[in-house]
Amino acid sequence: MSISLTQPTGPAHTRIYAYGAARGENVVPNDDLVGPIDSSDEWIRQRTGIITRVRAGHDTSAIELGTDAAREAVERSGIPADKIDAVIVATISNPKQTPSVSAIVADRIGANPAAAYDLNAACAGFAYGVAQADALIRGGIATYAVVVGVEKLSDLVDPTDRSISFLLGDGAGAAVVGPSETPGIGPTVWGSDGSKAELVGMNATLTEFRDGTVPWPTLRQEGPSVFRWAVWDMVKVARRALEAAGVEAADLAAFIPHQANLRIIDEFAKQLKLPDTVTIAHDIETTGNTSAASIPLATHRLAAGASGAVRRARAADRVRRRARLRRAGRRAPLTGTHSTIDLSTARRASSPEESRTRSRNGIHQR
Ligand SMILES: CC(C)(COP(=O)(O)OP(=O)(O)OC[C@H]1O[C@@H](n2cnc3c(N)ncnc32)[C@H](O)[C@@H]1OP(=O)(O)O)[C@@H](O)C(=O)NCCC(=O)NCCS
Repeated sequence: MSISLTQPTGPAHTRIYAYGAARGENVVPNDDLVGPIDSSDEWIRQRTGIITRVRAGHDTSAIELGTDAAREAVERSGIPADKIDAVIVATISNPKQTPSVSAIVADRIGANPAAAYDLNAACAGFAYGVAQADALIRGGIATYAVVVGVEKLSDLVDPTDRSISFLLGDGAGAAVVGPSETPGIGPTVWGSDGSKAELVGMNATLTEFRDGTVPWPTLRQEGPSVFRWAVWDMVKVARRALEAAGVEAADLAAFIPHQANLRIIDEFAKQLKLPDTVTIAHDIETTGNTSAASIPLATHRLAAGASGAVRRARAADRVRRRARLRRAGRRAPLTGTHSTIDLSTARRASSPEESRTRSRNGIHQR
């Protein structure tokens, strides 16, 4: 008699239920950093769009930031913490290789014995985590998952380095992913390229540091090469993601790319031909580049704007948008590969006060 193995299957669709965020507690203006790199507030603003970045205090760890963000996301989701089956933490900056940040975060938010693992994909880490949570749930081995992107990059900064140090900030963003009646997370298109490994990363290994041959390893990059790669290659992947999801740039409510550099974000939006109805996240201006944390932090800020000042307009706008899509014979849209909350009404502020609120929240219209 042959034995038939039972393999689980899950729901057809998933969505993001809620976001949480924790930003470094110190606001660091450009002027605090320019001395050792012979730079200026004006140069940094013009070349990167960064006005301030947030950095965590000496005693605040990535684990604490990640726990705070995950806790907020779980509370907002309404899902009891003991129903979370997986905690995925994307990070490159935890100074301890093991145990994982995720196992400790899972314990602290009350999610034991959830699956818990860290993933290292740098700035793409949160997007990888959402793709994995989606797959775990649709594969039937988890019902709810928490995805956290967290970095304490200030521990990996050389204050005398002109290539990247002034870009970096600290923070954590988190999302709860779960089953959905309708598609809420678009298809993923992968885009890694290890042949460019020397362009951005750590400048030495821990064993070289142990052996006394190098100082404390820090992040370095070849800025202009990374810039070109980001603009020209990322846009191709983004176009394929839109195509795979069956949506067009004009259908998007919001565009929330990794917050690397404002010039990259703006050029990216131009290449994608985003219409001026699309809200573009500019969280980098006040948060800096927080690698794996940047997309959920920027989304959290946009969502805060959407649920606050413009809440009243939201329902009406959603109805109008759906009617427009129905008329065009298209199915209900996703808002992009990484963001699934409905930000459609974050687009228009109806009064000067709302405009000011949106500006404070880092929301910009094109
Ligand atoms: C780092 C970055 C801001 C530099 O901006 P850039 O416009 O490419 O600047 P360049 O390196 O071409 O240098 C231009 C000039 O500014 C100078 N410069 C470089 N870094 C400087 C700094 N920190 N402060 C002041 N001047 C600087 C250069 O010496 C050069 O001067 P020159 O014209 O007299 O020769 C930009 O390349 C970037 O953002 N790259 C990608 C970032 C990114 O996505 N990283 C991914 C990892 S998260």
